[in-house]
Amino acid sequence: MNANSPIGIFDSGYGGLTVMKEIVKQLPQYDYIYLGDNARAPYGPRSFETVYRYTLQCVQWFFKQDCPLVILACNTASAKALRTIQQNDLPKMDTGKRVLGVIRPTTEVIGNYSSSKQVGILATSGTVTSQSYPIEIEKFFPGIEVYQQACPMLVPLIENNEHHTKGADFFVKKYIHDLLAKSPMIDTILLACTHYPLLMDKIKEYSPADMTILSQGEIVAASLVDYLQRHPEMEQRISKKGLQRFYTTDSTEDFDNHAALFYGTGVSSKHVDLEAQ
Ligand code: DGL
Repeated sequence: MNANSPIGIFDSGYGGLTVMKEIVKQLPQYDYIYLGDNARAPYGPRSFETVYRYTLQCVQWFFKQDCPLVILACNTASAKALRTIQQNDLPKMDTGKRVLGVIRPTTEVIGNYSSSKQVGILATSGTVTSQSYPIEIEKFFPGIEVYQQACPMLVPLIENNEHHTKGADFFVKKYIHDLLAKSPMIDTILLACTHYPLLMDKIKEYSPADMTILSQGEIVAASLVDYLQRHPEMEQRISKKGLQRFYTTDSTEDFDNHAALFYGTGVSSKHVDLEAQ
C-alpha cells in the first residue's frame, strides 16, 4: 500500500459531496480525495462524447493522485461515461485500478422499496436520455415500471445557491406534478442526481405524504462497504489515515463557501487545472 492512496470521489460539481458524506460516515478509516469539475458543470445537458471526455480526464487525474479506486458520484457521468471507461479505457491502462458508479448500486435495491411496483426517477436530462435506469432496473427487478422525469433546472438552481427560492419551489412542484401525471401509482421516487438531496424538503412538500423518497448517499455507501469486503485486494491498497482532501476545477473560495451546504461541515479546497495535466 502507498503512504497516500485515497479513494477518489468525483462529481461534475458539488452533488457528489452528498454521497461522500455518507461514505465517510460508514467508512471513516479511509483517505479520500474529492474532485468537483465545477468549471464545466452542469454535465446534465452535455453530449455523451463531452461527458465521456471530461469524466475520463478527471479519472486520469485521480489515477495520477494514486487513487486505486474512483467512485463517479454523479449519475450523469455514471450513465454516459462509466461503461466506456470500464470496458475500453481501464483495460488499456492495465493498472488494476477500478472506477465504480452510482447507478448500479441504486438499481440493485430500488425494487425493494416499492409496493405498487411503479417507481419514479427524477434526474438530469442526460441521465434520462441515456435510459440507464429503466435498463438497469429491468435487470434486477423485471416487471417494475419505471417513469422518468428530466429536471433540467434543478442542478443550475442548486449550483447557483438559488435552491431556497420561490423559483426552486416552482420547478420542484412542476417536475413532481409532471412525473406523477405519468402514473398516479408511483409510490417511490428516486433522486437520481446527487445534487437533489439539497431539495429534499421541497420534494417532500410537493409529493404525496406517503411517497417514499430515496436519495443515493446511504445506498452507495452501503454498496461500497460490501464491495470492499468482497475485494480485499483493493481494500488493502487504500490508505487509512482518515484524511479528506477537496479539489475543484473552479474557484476555491466559491467551492468552500458552497460545499458546507452539501457536506455538512466546512471544507478547504485546492484548485486543479485539468488542462495543465
Ligand atoms: N450530480 C450530478 C448527477 O448526479 C449532476 C449532473 C450535472 O452536472 O448536471 O447527475
